[in-house]
This record gives sequence, structure tokens and C-alpha cells, in this order.
Amino acid sequence: MLNEAKRLKEIIRLDTELSTVQDLDILLERILNEARKITDADAGTIYIRRGDNLVFSYTQNETQRNKLPPGQKLIFSTFIVKISKKSISGYVAATGEALNIPDVYKISKSSPYQFDSSYDKVSQYKTTSVLTVPLKTNRDEIVGVLQIINKQDSGGEVVPFDSEDEVVVKHFASTASMALQRAQLTRALILRMIQMAELRDPKETGPHVNRVASYATEIYERWAGRRSITPEELNRMRDVLRSAAMLHDVGKVGISDAILKKPGKLTTNERMIMETHTYIGARLFLNKQSEFDEVASMVALTHHENWDGTGYPGYVDIGTGSPIKRGRRRKRTGMKGEEIPIYGRVVAIADVYDALQSKRAYKEAWDEEEVYSEIRRLSGKKFDPEIVDVFFDCSKVLKSIFSRYPDAD
Ligand SMILES: [Fe+2]
Ligand SMILES: [Fe+2]
Repeated sequence: MLNEAKRLKEIIRLDTELSTVQDLDILLERILNEARKITDADAGTIYIRRGDNLVFSYTQNETQRNKLPPGQKLIFSTFIVKISKKSISGYVAATGEALNIPDVYKISKSSPYQFDSSYDKVSQYKTTSVLTVPLKTNRDEIVGVLQIINKQDSGGEVVPFDSEDEVVVKHFASTASMALQRAQLTRALILRMIQMAELRDPKETGPHVNRVASYATEIYERWAGRRSITPEELNRMRDVLRSAAMLHDVGKVGISDAILKKPGKLTTNERMIMETHTYIGARLFLNKQSEFDEVASMVALTHHENWDGTGYPGYVDIGTGSPIKRGRRRKRTGMKGEEIPIYGRVVAIADVYDALQSKRAYKEAWDEEEVYSEIRRLSGKKFDPEIVDVFFDCSKVLKSIFSRYPDAD
């Protein structure tokens, strides 16, 4: 267990760290992890409020994770809990009160809330002590619920959460709520940019960009695991890459409707215009003020480059679109192999994978096996063979992402 001074230090460090995280998904995972660390909790969940419901959004469980082979992640489905006083998390969201329950199997029958043991049954886990606090904004709106489970003493025995844990976690929850609000604002701005792109191009839907961003971060994380990338860099870059990946096709705002919405095949000339969405997108981030701008620019520019050098737009001046001469070659040259930034290589496979397995106006969704064999076939041609390897390493997680963001119809 952390002593008082260490806890305080940890909280201050956390406050500073949270203020730098832009991406909501990554932020929430971090919040949960840190809250558990501070209180020695084995497991935990963050529920996010969506209207009258709480969505079981992030969950961590050390005991279950330790049973998995190294590098594998737990896959959880999404649960929805109605905000009502009948469940523990629902009660906390409905009343704004925290609940500290020493043993959920011994809640008095007269209490308004009861523990739902179905989750324990499905996951073969024994929940005992549970501390649940509301995530409240400064205007007292409940934006979610943070729940930590099974505090462990130094011998690994489960014990109740104490009043110190309550104070610490409440302070922490308010910091987290503010960060949540801020992250929601940033995300809302990015979403507006994406909506702008979507208004122009009906193929670039909200679910599609969310899926591509999630695949890309998952694949990048696995790839980074094979390299000597520090956990700090990994955390930072996942965050940046996720938002950047969402904007891979934002340059389509610069393409005319006649081409973008043309039902039939594009002429050679039209295709050339269409291809300019790469550097038009990159241009939006030209004024590189942050790592995010830099990566978003790279992703927009290089997500159609091919590993074997046959992609586009190749080496071009982002401002003008004219080819940059390289060596003696006068013709436009595609980037090749590792000349293509890793973020572009990762988003390329994520984007194609999603397009293949989705139904589009002009095509049916492909079967899983067809999708996989196509990706295998394109290894070394369109895609970096190592990234293809990584892709198959985490194909199950990618599949679960696909069902997490379903298309509207
Ligand atoms: Fe594109
Ligand atoms: Fe796309």
C-alpha cells in the first residue's frame, strides 16, 4: 500500500499528466488504471453516461489479465445499465452520492440497490469490496461513474476500501471529470471536422472513422511492443495517432461534389483530382503546432502509399502538390517501404480492412475469410509485411472493435 506522502505525490503527478491527454478513450483507461493503483484495487470499471443509461466503457481486471498470455488484452463486451436506484452504479449516477460497500454479497435486503451477480458469473470472478464514485462536472452534471473493485492488502487478501480511499478517489474523480469535459470538447471539435468531411463524402461515416482510429491504435500498440518504444512514448503516440487516424480523409473537403459523389467509375483525370485529398488534408495541419498536427499531416499525406512504391501521392510539395524531384528521377515517385511513416502504414491497413468488411453503396461486405486472404495477398505489395503480421496477431481484438462501432443501418 502507498503511504500518505506517496499517494499525494502520485495524485499531483496524475493531475499534471491527465491535463496533457487529448484523447478521451485513452484518458479514461489511464484514469481507471491510476485510480486502481492508488487504492490497491484489483479491478475497476468506468461507466460513461449516455442519456438515461450508463455504458460500461472501460474495464480492467488484474486477476483475469494475469491469466492471459503476455501481451494479450481482455476483451469485454459493452454493457448498459439503466440509471436507477436499483443497481450500485445506477444509484451513484442517480443520486450523485458515492457508495463504499465492504461486501456486495452482504448488502441488506432493505437497501434500494442490489448487486447484480451476473457479471461475476460470466467472468468467473468474485467481486467483494466496491467503491463507486460519481464523475461530476463543476456544474454538478453526472458524466459517468468510476468504480473500483476488490482492494487488496499486502498479502493479497481482499479488504474493504477505507475512508482515505474515499477521499483520494473523490478528489481524483473531480480532476478526472474536468479532464473528461476538456477531452470531450477537443473530441467534439475533431468530430466537427470529421462531420464536415462526412457532409462532403458519404463514405467517410462516423462509425468508419472511429473504427479506423481504434484499429490503428491497436495495431500501432502491438507494433510498438516489438520495438524498443518506451511506455511513455507509446501512451503519447497512441493518443495522437487515434485522433490523427480519424482525420485520414479530411482532405476530401477540398474535392468537388461532382467527383466525390459520382456514382460510376472515375475517369483518369477525376482520379488524379481525387488523389489530391492526401496533400490537401496534410495542408490543413501545415502550421504544425503540436505532435498531433505533425502526425495528422503524415497520416493524411501517406495513407494511400504502398509498401512496394506504387501508391500515391509520393514525394510532393504539400503546399502546391507538385512532385519533388529526387535524385535523377524526374517522374513522380511513390514512397516505398520504411520511407512511408509508420503512422501512414498502420492507417493504410486499418482503412482497407474496414472498407473490405463493411457494406458500401457500391459493394457488399466481404466474408471474414475473404477479407483475411486479401490482406495476406497484399502483404509486401500494398502493406508492410510486418504490419500484416501484427494485424493477424490482434485480429480478434480488431473484430471486437468492428462490433463496437456498428454502421447506422
Ligand atoms: Fe483516403
Ligand atoms: Fe477511410
